[in-house]
Amino acid sequence: MFKVFYVAALIASLDRTKIMKKNKINILIIGKGGREHALAFKIAQSPKVNKIYCAPSNSGIAEIAEPVNININNIDALADFALQKNIQLTVVGPEKSLALGIVDTFEKKDLKIFGPSKKAAQIEASKSFAKKIMAKANIPTPKSETFTDINKANQYIKKQKTPIVIKADGLAAGKGVIICDTTQKALNTAGNMLVKNQFGKSGKKILIEEYAIGKEASFIAFCDGTNILPFPLSCDHKPAFDNNKGPNTGGMGVYSPAPFINKTLYKKIAETIILPAVKTMKKSGAIYKGFLYAGLIINNDNVKVLEFNCRMGDPEAQALLVRVKNDIIEIMEACIQEKLNKFTLDINKKASVCVIMASSGYPNKTVEKGALITGLEKITPKDNLFIFHSGTKKKNNNLTTNGGRVLGITALGNNIENASKKAYNAIKQISWKGAFYRKDIGKSREQHI
Ligand code: GLY
Repeated sequence: MFKVFYVAALIASLDRTKIMKKNKINILIIGKGGREHALAFKIAQSPKVNKIYCAPSNSGIAEIAEPVNININNIDALADFALQKNIQLTVVGPEKSLALGIVDTFEKKDLKIFGPSKKAAQIEASKSFAKKIMAKANIPTPKSETFTDINKANQYIKKQKTPIVIKADGLAAGKGVIICDTTQKALNTAGNMLVKNQFGKSGKKILIEEYAIGKEASFIAFCDGTNILPFPLSCDHKPAFDNNKGPNTGGMGVYSPAPFINKTLYKKIAETIILPAVKTMKKSGAIYKGFLYAGLIINNDNVKVLEFNCRMGDPEAQALLVRVKNDIIEIMEACIQEKLNKFTLDINKKASVCVIMASSGYPNKTVEKGALITGLEKITPKDNLFIFHSGTKKKNNNLTTNGGRVLGITALGNNIENASKKAYNAIKQISWKGAFYRKDIGKSREQHI
């Protein structure tokens, strides 16, 4: 009798688990960087999630999500995979997949996906498109002219003051913006892009832009086509070395919030820059859904937009997502369903700092790969310390380097300085041959809001 009761109870509990699992959703994350590791970490906290897959993933993400060996550009194969595995939400990290139209392809197949359409992703994929949107929306941005003809570009350059900025119109893996200190460097840069095909098709149109001075900050928001839900401000550090020296990278470290922006200015940016951009995109037939990222330059109360990106930042994601308390799946679904106005972001008051550890040679293409990473086992990630992987790979059970940016050591603290100390204390334990990182991320003594 007892046995019969026991078996019946077991079957009932298995059924309950099945029903619970049935109501939970399978997620596919596209990408393989620190940003996608931070997204996977945050998504895994959602009680709505059953299983997470990531294409193509990295060693850190593989601890949370099942790796899928499909390239981020192979949109049809990704859609087939999503159909086959009953994926109910796909979250896209890199701009390349968005600019190729992954959202349009998935939506045609009735697959739910978080991110902007191909048309809306032009806000990053074409800098001249972004400038047109900013002009229509009255968004302040440094003055610029667009050129496809080298002779006209050269004539224009010769009449401008230096420094001056030359930008490839299309995507260039974060390398298409060159600050030129001299007229000669500007002439060479324009020639490299327009004549010598430095960035292929992406550099066949260029923008020549006035150089703006100020403090840089990243304003990133969830968007549902009409409404926005902004994250706190964050500050990236693009140059490779301390005191902003050396070549530009994808970002060597971030702190959040930005100490030099008060609540009034934050509100003004949301109302006079981000909302008008979203409204103008809608009017232009390019409804914007997903993460919208404005790269700002701030001089006291004077704010200008340097660029828009159609995705989360990297490493901004690492520093921002550890501060979010909400269920991120609910918010992403609200963006798709155009119901974002029903949500507010619940942000941890603690400040965060993410310090990137990179491989020798970064940001050049020829970075050393395959170096053995040691010391991670000495660190116990806790509530206030997070290790996000970018270029890592397991080889014979050993963790090795597999790219330029390798790890994002991220900490929460009572203020930026305190979070920075925690991150650098953890970094002391980690090493590999050729590892380098900036020593000045979050060392600011200013108070944050
Ligand atoms: N951290 C800069 C970017 O994501 O574009």
